Amino acid sequence: MLLDNKVALVTGASRGIGRAIALELAKEGAIVCVNFQRNNTRAGAVLDELKKISQKPHCLVPFDISSWEAAEKEITTLVQKTGTLDILVNNAGVTKDNLLLRMKEAEWDEVIHTNLKGVFNCSKVAAKFMLKQRRGRMINITSLSGEMGNPGQTNYSASKAGVMGFTKSLAKELGSRGITVNAISPGFIQTDMTNSLSSELQTEICKNIPLGSFGTCEDVAHLVVFLASDKARYITGQGVGVNGGLYM
Ligand SMILES: NC(=O)c1ccc[n+]([C@@H]2O[C@H](COP(=O)([O-])OP(=O)(O)OC[C@H]3O[C@@H](n4cnc5c(N)ncnc54)[C@H](O)[C@@H]3O)[C@@H](O)[C@H]2O)c1
Repeated sequence: MLLDNKVALVTGASRGIGRAIALELAKEGAIVCVNFQRNNTRAGAVLDELKKISQKPHCLVPFDISSWEAAEKEITTLVQKTGTLDILVNNAGVTKDNLLLRMKEAEWDEVIHTNLKGVFNCSKVAAKFMLKQRRGRMINITSLSGEMGNPGQTNYSASKAGVMGFTKSLAKELGSRGITVNAISPGFIQTDMTNSLSSELQTEICKNIPLGSFGTCEDVAHLVVFLASDKARYITGQGVGVNGGLYM
């Protein structure tokens, strides 16, 4: 087991990539805390799946990551219960796509507040506890859009590029205290979001992917497990693409 009894908080873990990350961390022995937005009904099913993997005190931690007050209160309460926080995976993210001239201020704000400020909120609270422990792992899920750009996604690309800059700066701040901070940048991954693309468009996109297909949520989750483990002790401030070679 790579992560025996390590306590991991995964944001946005009620479905998609976050769910896969939660399950793969549990398979390696971690105690997993599943964050999601309160109105999401799928989180209970993820908790049931975690309990089938191991009889550990996995739990649900519903709160809106874009709220500083909520992040501070809920993560602090969680650590008081668990006694530690070893791994933070900043996975939760939203899209509100529109061409810039049609983009409403609310669409810009929601994406920046969730994808960028949400990472600030959770990382700041987690860092306080990790600094006391003098160990910790932070893994931020960014996106290929933040590296390549994508029409209709100025808000999303800006938020994800911002998370990459955040990752590097925080890695420099925390490195001397035994805390690593890395980013994973997925390309096209099979999720609810990409399943809604027409099969013609999916075929067209795959022509440009050297490995010839969309990735799976587990492809991302396996890298999270590695970066969270002691095997990645000398890796920090890095962004790793999981994109089938679409962007090099
Ligand atoms: N799906 C892809 O192909 C792809 C590609 C590149 C990057 N990503 C990134 O990977 C991450 C996961 O993507 P996904 O497709 O699995 O997403 P998804 O939409 O399936 O799930 C998002 C999760 O985030 C949670 N969430 C949203 N806003 C929240 C908030 N304010 N507070 C707490 N939780 C919140 C939701 O409850 C849900 O659990 C995101 O950061 C996304 O930007 C996805």
